[in-house]
Amino acid sequence: PTPWLVVPAAGCGRRMGADRPKQYLTLGGQTVLAHTLSRLHAAFPEARLCLCLDAEDDHFDPAWVPFSDWRRVDGGAERVDSVVNALEAIVAEGADDQALVLVHDVARPCVDASDLARLFAVVRDDPVGGLLAAPVADTMKRDDAAGRVAHTEERAGLWHALTPQGFRLGVLRRALARAHAEGVAVTDEASAVEALGLSPRLVPGRRDNLKITHPEDLALAGQILAAQAS
Ligand code: C5P
Repeated sequence: PTPWLVVPAAGCGRRMGADRPKQYLTLGGQTVLAHTLSRLHAAFPEARLCLCLDAEDDHFDPAWVPFSDWRRVDGGAERVDSVVNALEAIVAEGADDQALVLVHDVARPCVDASDLARLFAVVRDDPVGGLLAAPVADTMKRDDAAGRVAHTEERAGLWHALTPQGFRLGVLRRALARAHAEGVAVTDEASAVEALGLSPRLVPGRRDNLKITHPEDLALAGQILAAQAS
């Protein structure tokens, strides 16, 4: 089976402080968006893509989309709203509840081919679905309101949630609708699925699948891409 891909790319990248959204900054002469889509396409050449873009986006160029079957979907106010719009577009295409959907942040251009293949192999056969994740290396502190350490979290068993995250269309729609109705803050698909009482699989992935968020991340992503290419 070939998955549906949802790529939320409707953020404005405020934390980057750049003159354009971070997906349109360039790495080695290509936009972040083009890098990300080309990695996904290499792993899933037959996949059907929903690309979430701001309705007023004037940086996007369709020449950066290597997929033959793709559609542009309007982004929403938050990432979760963009993903919900994409899921409704997938339903409108006639997909059923069992269709597999992989959601991947446009801001993660360094995602590795073997990680994509492994995630897909796991979620394809898993009744709940799952996500790429990496074990936390640093000791984690919880703050108090005054900027001091309230306590140290137990590091063992803590993971960074990465993307892609893969779930059945039906599960994901139910999870996101319920999170919306209950006003639960959702920063990834898995947390909405967890709120249904389900336990997504953690699929160990490479730590260099970073999300470009702050200015220093762009140079780091460029170095990771160059090292992976050599
Ligand atoms: O802001 P952050 O980096 O956490 O955004 C994660 C992803 O969600 C990015 O790929 C961004 O473009 C996307 N996004 C979106 N719609 C929004 C906000 C963010 O598609 N309203």
